[in-house]
Amino acid sequence: MKNYIEETANYLKEKGFDLPEVGIILGTGLGQLINHLEIIKEVSYNHIPYFPTATVEFHKGKLIFGKLEGKKVIVMQGRFHIYEGYTLQDVTYPVRIMNQLGIKALLVSNAAGAINLNFKKGELMLIEDHINLQGSSPLAFKGVGSLGVRFADMSQPYDAQINATIETIAKNHNITLHKGVYASVVGPQLETRAEYRMLKIIGADAVGMSTVPEIIVANHLGLKAAAVSVLTDECDPEHLEPVNIDEIIAMAQKAEPDMITIFKELIKQL
Ligand code: HPA
Repeated sequence: MKNYIEETANYLKEKGFDLPEVGIILGTGLGQLINHLEIIKEVSYNHIPYFPTATVEFHKGKLIFGKLEGKKVIVMQGRFHIYEGYTLQDVTYPVRIMNQLGIKALLVSNAAGAINLNFKKGELMLIEDHINLQGSSPLAFKGVGSLGVRFADMSQPYDAQINATIETIAKNHNITLHKGVYASVVGPQLETRAEYRMLKIIGADAVGMSTVPEIIVANHLGLKAAAVSVLTDECDPEHLEPVNIDEIIAMAQKAEPDMITIFKELIKQL
């Protein structure tokens, strides 16, 4: 994989992706951050050698190099999920590329369901820790040892200092920001009532279908990492209603301005 990573990174360097400092993965309904970016260069995923091929749904996937608050950033507009049929190595390949290009920190956003019923839809949650329920690991492959330690430490996968900064930013801007544990499932089906009960019992505050693989690989590479969820629905097993994807997307969009404020301020302070 090492040679592929170098080749992909060299291609992007030639395209002008010149020493980004921070990598950002934009999740569901949070794409508007792009409008705050001074775009220097963008490349469609389909054109990047060894990148997972974008599916029809995600043909808009792009890697963008630009400036945000004066910092050079690389932004993934659209991410890969295992529920689309990608492997965990595919899903996390872009993180390895951003690392090869020189980022020092990875910031991630996602949409998640609230398991903790003190949290309301439309609010944000800072991820403090996670539970990997995707049944495998992005580090479980032959040759991982050539890219970093096999038995990667996960005692503090989310950077405490960045998280403290995010909390201060939220406070200063009067943004409600919960803190909690994010559990990642495979999806794409939503959870049953029994699964929601289980998630609560095992200590999850939110559930979603992404982020954990990317955070594991960021830690594998020694990158500082942080992630914020927008809570799009309340997963109450005793009063569960059929999922409404339109409402989930609408909730993600409702929280978008707060998410953008947090990310912009954070980039400024990093
Ligand atoms: N599960 C439940 N609700 C959600 C999810 C999920 O994975 N993602 C966004 N809302």
